[in-house]
Amino acid sequence: MKTSSPKDQSPGLSVDLSVRLGRLKLPNPILVASGTFGYAREMEPMIDLSRLGGILPKTVTWEPRAGNAPWRTVETPAGMLNSIGLDNDGVEAFLAHHLPYLANLGVPVIVSVAGSSHDEFVRLAERFNDVEIGGIELNISCPNVSSGVDFGIDCGLCEKLVADCRQAARWPLIAKLTPNVTSIADVAQAAEAGGADAISLVNTCQGMAIDWRKRRSMLGGLFGGLSGPAIKPIALRCVCQAAQATKIPIIGIGGIATVDDVMEFLVAGANAVQLGTVNFYNPGASIEVLDALPAALAEAGVASPAELVGTLVR
Ligand SMILES: Cc1cc2nc3c(=O)[nH]c(=O)nc-3n(C[C@H](O)[C@H](O)[C@H](O)COP(=O)(O)O)c2cc1C
Repeated sequence: MKTSSPKDQSPGLSVDLSVRLGRLKLPNPILVASGTFGYAREMEPMIDLSRLGGILPKTVTWEPRAGNAPWRTVETPAGMLNSIGLDNDGVEAFLAHHLPYLANLGVPVIVSVAGSSHDEFVRLAERFNDVEIGGIELNISCPNVSSGVDFGIDCGLCEKLVADCRQAARWPLIAKLTPNVTSIADVAQAAEAGGADAISLVNTCQGMAIDWRKRRSMLGGLFGGLSGPAIKPIALRCVCQAAQATKIPIIGIGGIATVDDVMEFLVAGANAVQLGTVNFYNPGASIEVLDALPAALAEAGVASPAELVGTLVR
C-alpha cells in the first residue's frame, strides 16, 4: 500500500498526512463517501484513485436490491435530496465483480454494508473475513429504506449490533451514524461501547421536496436524504458533540467540498473526512483538497492532521 505521494507534500512543507483510525492506517485523511463514488471504476478516468486516503464503495446488502421508485434525486439549494434505496447487486456480486478491481488500486477499501436485520448485519460483517479489505463501515443510518436507521437511532440496538459484528468480523469496524436523532452523543457512545474502532458521521438528513402544482413529492420514496453543503453546519455540530462524548476516532462527513471544510472538521474533532455529494459536481474535489491540505496544515502551525483534531477553542 502506498503511504504517501510526492504530490502530497508542497515544496518546503514537511507535513505527514497519514492518519491512524485505531487499527486502520490511512495514507491521508481524505476519503470518498459511500454511494457518491460508485465502485470507483466510474471515477477512474477523472481522478488518480491511488492518491485517495480511502474508498468507500456503494453500500452492499446480502440480497440484490432494486432500490426505490423514481424519481430518486432532486437538486435543492446548496445540496440534493436522494432516495436511492440501497440499489445494489448484493454481496456475492460485489465480491465477484467489484472487490477484485478495488483491491488492486493500492488504496484502503472500506466496505459499506447494510443488513435488513441484526443477524443479516452480522452475516455481512463475517462475509469479508476471507478477503483483504481495510475495514467495514456499518451503514446503520440509511433513511431511504424501511428499518434502515433502526440501529442508528436506538442506543441499545446499536451497541448490541456493533458488539456482535465486532465478534464476527476480522477487520476494523466503523459505525456510520445518522444525524436524525435527538442525541448524537448517546448513539456515538453506544457504538463505542459496542466496540466500534471508529464512527463516521453524518449520513443524510431526512428531508422532502414537493411539486405543489401536482401536489406530489418530487421523490418516488416520498422522503429523501439531504446532502451537500446545505448540511455542513449540522454535520460539524454532530462531529463536535460526538467527539466530546467518545474517545474513538471520528470520520467527518457532510457537505465537505473544500480544504477549509476539511480543516473545520478536523478542528471539530474528526480524524479523517469523507467527501460525498461534491463528487457529483466536481469529481476532482478530493484530489484538489488533498493537494491543498499540506499548506493549510502548515498555516495552522501543525505538522500532521492529528495535531489539529479537536483543537476547538472554547
Ligand atoms: C446519491 C447518494 C447516495 C448515497 N448512498 C449511500 C450509501 O449507499 N451508503 C451510505 O452509507 N451513504 C450513502 N449516501 C450518504 C453519503 O455517503 C454521505 O453520508 C452524505 O451524502 C453526506 O455527505 P455529503 O454531504 O458530502 O454528500 C449517499 C448519498 C447520496 C447523495
